Amino acid sequence: MAAAKKKTAPKKPARTTQKGKTAIITGVTGQDGSYLAELLLGKGYQVYGVMRRVSSFGSTGRIDHLLDNPNFHKVYADLDDGPSIDALVAKVKPDEFYNLGAMSHVRVSFEVPRYTIATNTLGVLTALEAIRQHSPHTKFYQASSSEMFGDPGVPVPFNEKTPMIPQSPYGVSKLASYHLVQQYKNGYGLFATTGILFNHESPRRGENFVTKKISLAVARIKKGLQDKLELGNLDAKRDWGWSPEFVEAIYQIMQHDKPDTFVVATGETHTIREFVEEAFKHVGLNWKDYVTFHEKLLRPNEVPKLLGDATKIRKTLGWKPAKKFKDIVREMVDHDLQNL
Ligand SMILES: NC(=O)c1ccc[n+]([C@@H]2O[C@H](COP(=O)([O-])OP(=O)(O)OC[C@H]3O[C@@H](n4cnc5c(N)ncnc54)[C@H](OP(=O)(O)O)[C@@H]3O)[C@@H](O)[C@H]2O)c1
Repeated sequence: MAAAKKKTAPKKPARTTQKGKTAIITGVTGQDGSYLAELLLGKGYQVYGVMRRVSSFGSTGRIDHLLDNPNFHKVYADLDDGPSIDALVAKVKPDEFYNLGAMSHVRVSFEVPRYTIATNTLGVLTALEAIRQHSPHTKFYQASSSEMFGDPGVPVPFNEKTPMIPQSPYGVSKLASYHLVQQYKNGYGLFATTGILFNHESPRRGENFVTKKISLAVARIKKGLQDKLELGNLDAKRDWGWSPEFVEAIYQIMQHDKPDTFVVATGETHTIREFVEEAFKHVGLNWKDYVTFHEKLLRPNEVPKLLGDATKIRKTLGWKPAKKFKDIVREMVDHDLQNL
């Protein structure tokens, strides 16, 4: 049987406005989306920040300072609502589409697996199809995750060639979308890229993620507003980086001369216990006096150790992280102490 002819995207130059390039960011209200919006605005982009309609105020807390920027355009759309993404892409025809929107919590994905797949996999398909149909010159970035790895039998560190055997609905949803990106790149010639990012933190991390839960609890305990901190598995090892630096990597991946896949990691791994210990030590307290264990916080499946090998991005794009583990912990705690 004759091999199917590969379709290639029309060679159209990136559309630029007088003020610079245009970019759509899904997940702009999240940790990474907010830093990425700042980065792109700083470079003169017109940024279309995708927001979901929510019933309570406060979901724009990370981007409130951007809402009055004339180059920031707040748009309502939802990865679970195909027509809204389709119409947005058809209207804006952006130079770049950063897909950071996701049901991003691993443990919660065990409780809402179908929803996780719908947003994180079908949502990606929706965005890729919209680009293929309406704006094939648009470059696409997909936020892939180290949770796509995780089989305890596979030796660390993990790089772009490591077998991916996810251990959660979240990991499965991200792996499926990772393959969709490869398919749209290879089959349709789209500039479809992906970064496999290991955990990355900042003061803007969501409050139900373990690092932020710890930094916030430490600040509250120090100020006498809380007595105990309930945690699950303290032995899980993670490769923790700094979100603003990882967002810079995302940007560089998108500016590379060809669409490719890059692991983004620090190459250091630490247990959750070490994070807890460092956070309490920073405010002069002993963690053992405050931390209690609760079974309900364990995941049905755990990835015991995540450690990334970011050699490829360092050699190809020159990206490397600077912020060290202890400084990440301290900066998060200091922020929460100041902002309580
Ligand atoms: N942070 C990490 O360590 C890490 C590591 C690897 C990969 N990632 C991935 O990187 C991306 C950004 O991470 P993050 O830490 O910034 O996550 P985050 O703070 O949890 O933000 C997630 C964003 O996705 C939006 N979102 C959720 N469902 C959506 C939907 N149906 N349609 C449109 N938007 C939707 C959220 O909007 P609302 O504000 O309305 O909820 C929020 O803006 C995510 O895809 C995440 O899975 C993160």
